[in-house]
Amino acid sequence: MATRFQSPDKTSSDLARKTSALGVSAREFLRSPQLVGSAFPASQVLVDRLLDPVDWSSARVVVEYGPGSGPLTRAMLQRMPHDSRLVTLDVSPHFTRHLQRSIDDPRLLAVTASASSVAEILERHGLGSADLIVTGIPFSTMSAQLADQIMDASAQVLSPHGQVLAYQMRTAVEGYLEPRFGKVRKSFVWRNIPPCHLYWAS
Ligand SMILES: C[S@@+](CC[C@H](N)C(=O)[O-])C[C@H]1O[C@@H](n2cnc3c(N)ncnc32)[C@H](O)[C@@H]1O
Repeated sequence: MATRFQSPDKTSSDLARKTSALGVSAREFLRSPQLVGSAFPASQVLVDRLLDPVDWSSARVVVEYGPGSGPLTRAMLQRMPHDSRLVTLDVSPHFTRHLQRSIDDPRLLAVTASASSVAEILERHGLGSADLIVTGIPFSTMSAQLADQIMDASAQVLSPHGQVLAYQMRTAVEGYLEPRFGKVRKSFVWRNIPPCHLYWAS
């Protein structure tokens, strides 16, 4: 049976990346707890539970709101076709810089901006509509006006067969997804700090 071998270089660079991701997440949480929501990056269990049910082979344009230190960003790039684009929008320039420095992938466009400007950013880069929108931004702590603006913009840029994937500590996002999308599937993942609600809306 073949044994999977990881070179010491690969193991130490993975460790350096994880340490740096934990550092930037903790610093940004201390700076703005309301905006960041959690000091811990999403767990591998959460990432797989949210992303595995989706057909990534047909994703051409994917948008991520609030990538933070990038655990979902990296996992999505592994699943996405070679000619696709992933646009990340985060209000924190520190998280954007962390992604730009730690992910060397021409498909990634990491932007410091609010999710509410998604339509303008896709248009500025000539990207048309989004096949998938993935969001971890905290809908429970933002104003209802901003949450409505973000979901209206998301519904506007999503392609007709597209999906919105959300992971949230609380259930506030349901009240913004359900009026705009015909079908909202829900689940829950315990193995994350904190445990999270998962949503797939289409
Ligand atoms: C729960 S954290 C995401 C954590 C990240 N997925 C991880 O696992 O490291 C929420 C993120 O949303 C960002 N954020 C909050 N409000 C936002 C908004 N209106 N638009 C874009 N990003 C936002 C925060 O800066 C933070 O990076």
